[in-house]
Amino acid sequence: MGKPLFIGNWKMHFLPHEAEEYIASFQQTLDNELIDNCDIALAPPFPLLPLVGASLSHGRGVRLAAQNVHWENSGAHTGEVSPALLSALGVTYVLVGHSERRQFYGESDQAVAKRVRAAAESGLRPVLCVGETEEEYRSGASKDATLRQLQAGISELSSESASSLVVAYEPVWAIGTGLAATPEHAQQQHSLIRSLLVQQFGEQGQAVPLLYGGSTKPENMEELAQVENVDGALPGGSSLKPQVFAELIRNGLKGYRSKTR
Ligand code: PGA
Repeated sequence: MGKPLFIGNWKMHFLPHEAEEYIASFQQTLDNELIDNCDIALAPPFPLLPLVGASLSHGRGVRLAAQNVHWENSGAHTGEVSPALLSALGVTYVLVGHSERRQFYGESDQAVAKRVRAAAESGLRPVLCVGETEEEYRSGASKDATLRQLQAGISELSSESASSLVVAYEPVWAIGTGLAATPEHAQQQHSLIRSLLVQQFGEQGQAVPLLYGGSTKPENMEELAQVENVDGALPGGSSLKPQVFAELIRNGLKGYRSKTR
């Protein structure tokens, strides 16, 4: 069993000085136990990547994540950011197909598949985000919606590149609502995702970290991390305060460890 992975999605928050203050305080709050036993990353807005990367490199163990990536390494793509640039900036993980991109910015399954492939081929670790809307949840279509997005998202990924994949299950109705999925629902969805990955990639599918996201907080993280096939989390709101994020990681580690005993 690997280490649990926690990626803080800052979304469209923070100015440069706020990011600097955050990193200083986050580095102080994280102790060796968390740094040694968890994989931790922060996903700031694009323009803050160099600053956050530089501040993190003075400390230990926290990696850089980006919130999106294009599939070409250069060209006439106004407003997009290439995998080559992200790699050059020291980025490790990149979110792809976050529900806010899908819902508000017209992100299609086809574009998601291209971004996942390009990220993986450039040595980045794509974090493919999937999850049903509230309507799909209510109508009992959670399984179909999640599997459709997953299947489409990995459709261009070769088996060789599958080892770099991370999947985040994020039910849209749980994002920013304060209402996280129950452990039972998370378990059901995560086990579906795992089965499809194993079917597609064999052994490598077994090793893909599966994150849960959607109203995670320190209070519910231990319980969620106890769920089979929950290998970490992608918190949004709870990653905006360094102490809260660190506490969430601590509780997540506790829950995750209880599965290995
Ligand atoms: P939330 O967001 O933790 O604020 O619900 C999660 C996400 O959108 O990744």
